[in-house]
This record gives sequence, C-alpha cells and structure tokens, in this order.
Amino acid sequence: MKVWKPDIERHNQPLYLALISALQADIDCGSLAVQDRLPTQRELADSLGIAIGTVTRAYAEAERRGLIHSEGRRGTFVGGMQTSRSMLASLVKERPDAIDLSKNHPSYDLDPDLAAALKELSRASDIHRLLEYPSTAGMTHHREAGARWLGELGMKADPDSVFITAGAQHALSVILGAEMHRGETICTDNFTYLGMRAIAQQQDLNMIGLEVDEVGIMPDSFEAACRHHRVRVLYCMPTISNPTNRTMTVLRREEIAGIAAKYGVTVIEDEIMRPLVPEQSGFIAELLPDQTYLVVSTSKALAAGLRVGVVRAPDAARQRMVESLTASCICLPPLMIELFARWLDDGTVRDVVTQRRQDIARRQKLVDPLLDGFVCHRHPCSYHCWLELPDGWTSVRLAMETQAQGVVVSPGEVFATESHPAYEAVRISVVSPSAAELEQALGIITGLLRGTITPRLPTV
Ligand SMILES: Cc1ncc(COP(=O)(O)O)c(C=O)c1O
Repeated sequence: MKVWKPDIERHNQPLYLALISALQADIDCGSLAVQDRLPTQRELADSLGIAIGTVTRAYAEAERRGLIHSEGRRGTFVGGMQTSRSMLASLVKERPDAIDLSKNHPSYDLDPDLAAALKELSRASDIHRLLEYPSTAGMTHHREAGARWLGELGMKADPDSVFITAGAQHALSVILGAEMHRGETICTDNFTYLGMRAIAQQQDLNMIGLEVDEVGIMPDSFEAACRHHRVRVLYCMPTISNPTNRTMTVLRREEIAGIAAKYGVTVIEDEIMRPLVPEQSGFIAELLPDQTYLVVSTSKALAAGLRVGVVRAPDAARQRMVESLTASCICLPPLMIELFARWLDDGTVRDVVTQRRQDIARRQKLVDPLLDGFVCHRHPCSYHCWLELPDGWTSVRLAMETQAQGVVVSPGEVFATESHPAYEAVRISVVSPSAAELEQALGIITGLLRGTITPRLPTV
C-alpha cells in the first residue's frame, strides 16, 4: 500500500493550508485516487515533523471542503462522502428526469387504504389514548400485535420480549445502542445494507465484511473473524440479503448460530424481507434465543411510510433495550402502531403481502429474458437484482454512465464494507419504476455492458 507523503514546501502558506493545497494537487495530478486511505493524523505529523494539531486542523478543513472523509476507526479516505452514501442521493438529484432504479421500495400503488383505516379508527371510543405518553416499551396491545405478527411468520415470541420501533433502521440503531460501544467490532456481509454501514460509522464501530457464497455468510469467514478479532455482534440478513439477494438455508442458519454460540457473539437477524417469502426456513433467533435480536418491519411488506418495526430481544437485554429506546425517542407515536395492529387483525397485512408477492413475481418474470447472459443474483420475492459487471467496468463508472443516459442504479461500492469491493456489481430495483421504464432502462444498462451502446462519459 502506498503511503501518502505530501510536499508541503511547495506551498507558501500557513502549514495547515499548505497541507490542504498539497492534498488537492496530488488528487488533481492523480497520485491520490478516490478511496485511497490517508495516513493517520499521528503518522502524518510524525513523517512531516509537524504538530498533530496542524494535521487535525487540515484534515477537518479538507473534510469540510469534500476532499476527504473519515470512516471512524477504518481511517480517512480520499474523496468526500459524495463517493459513498450521498453519492446515490446526488446521482438522483442531478438527474430528476432519470428512470430511478436505485430505490428498493415496494410499489406504492399497492399500499393499504389509509383514508378508510383512519375513518374506522376515528370511531373508536378510546382514540384519545393514542395521544397520551405511553411507557417506553409501548402499549401492551401493540406489543401483543408485534408478537402475533412474528408468530404468523413462524417465530414464537412473548410480548414482553417484543419492542416496537420506528421501522427497522431505528431498530438497528437502538439495538446497537444497547449492545455496542465505540471501537467494538461488528461483522456483516462484505456487501451490506447501507443503513447499517451508516450507523456503524456514526457510532464509530469497527466493521468487518465477511465472505458470502450462494447461501449467505460463509461459516469459515465468520469463524476466522471470531478467531482473530473480539467480535461483539454479527449483523446478517438471512432472507434476501440487501443488496446481494442471498438467502440462507436451514443448515447455513444452524452453522452461523453454532459459531455465534461458540464465540459468544450477539446476532442481529434482520428479516425485513421475510413476510414476502412464503416458504419458512427457520430463524437464528429460534436456535439462539438468548443471543439474538430478531428484526422485522412493515416497510417492505405493508407500507414504507408507516414506520413500524418489530424486535424480539433476548430476555436479558430487555432493560438495555428500554434504556436505548428511551435515549433515542422516549416512546413511539402510538397512532402508527395502532394502524398496523388493526391492519394485522383485519387481514389487510396478509392481503397486501399477497398482492406484493404477485407484483414482484410479474416484474421478475419481465426482467428474466432482459438479463439473459449476465451473472445476476435474483430471488423470486426480491425487489431488486444484483448484477455482476463484466471485466473493465467498475460499479461507479457504470452508475455514472447510466445516469448520463437517464437511468440511476445503485453502485455496489456504496454497500461495500471494504474500500476496495470484492467484485464489481450494481443493484437494480425492478419494482419502483413502471414496467415500460424498467424495460427501457435495462436496455440501456445491458447495451452499455454489451458494447452496443456507446458511453457518453470520457473514460478515466
Ligand atoms: C435489510 C434492510 N434492513 C433495514 C431496512 C430499513 O427498513 P425500515 O424502512 O423499516 O427502516 C432496510 C431498508 O431498505 C433494509 O433493506
């Protein structure tokens, strides 16, 4: 790995500005590339013989200018956050007219009838109770609804171990708040859910990406990480992982649970896609109930704006969860949870899920012939495809090129736990655009990859 040694003598400025000018010059001439790791502040101060405070000031200002970004304990990297999380947002923002295949959300046309549900709710005699402060753990009948839903999905849960959150992202944040401290290690798939990366970065956690095969996280890779690091938590998405679409078999869940048990690793089992998958393949939480947090949410199955997540926590973690929830929001708005509980009871959840499954199946069928000949990881119940790119393409280059041609996709790089992804791929949503737009967009993507459409951007 090359070590950056800036030439600050050339710049006749105060030291910290000279450092920024040298950084800019090295980026401009190409000797530093996006995602190159910079030396730590201490290393740079020592190698240049200057005060560490000068380097701290220079790095802070360079970050403010978008030249570099810090990823907590992983280090400081060339390029602003533009190159990772917010890259997606800017790809969409810069081309509001583009066909957006970057969003992994369900079809809003199939959302339940909110007006009818609110009308019905307005007739309830105790509706005023929804405006009172509930306890942090929430209203009893809301926790019971959460437990009932988990039961329908195949996981028996005591309502006392169930916590309602404002969606799965909030659940993950609350769980990590309850379980982890700054600098501790969390393992996950080598391409992982963007939101988890964001929390790990915000909480300054050390994230290790694990190797994955066709059925998810590989036991050897997990065990090696446990042997060489003090792994506190494993975050996994056993059903239709985001973005790689892997689903663990029963055997794989058992293997992962076995290793977690052996090394005392807490598991966060994110099953946000489980309600959409008809066949049952068990839960890690069933195999390892005292060490596993199970997370589901209404976002992919029912309605994304409802913001209801359901967590089944280990018994011993209840108090920590209450404390973490209190720190995060005191308590949840009961109105949204009430809608969920009523939709669960009157069969709306089941009906909407059935319609969503049919909708996804139609889209996946449409995509089938269009992606023929490519290495593409798909699942019949997934909202997206994970398309591996032929040699010569990086995910960022393809994303920028398709954007120039009016199509936005999610580059694999934004999901990668390492600064250099294991391989190049893009995530393509198949449900959010119209069918005609999807066909047109896939024509552009595959045309570029096959070389039948000429790129518009210069190659660098
Ligand atoms: C794997 C995974 N977990 C959690 C979330 C967050 O879900 P929610 O909208 O319920 O916060 C998402 C959203 O895309 C996701 O894909």
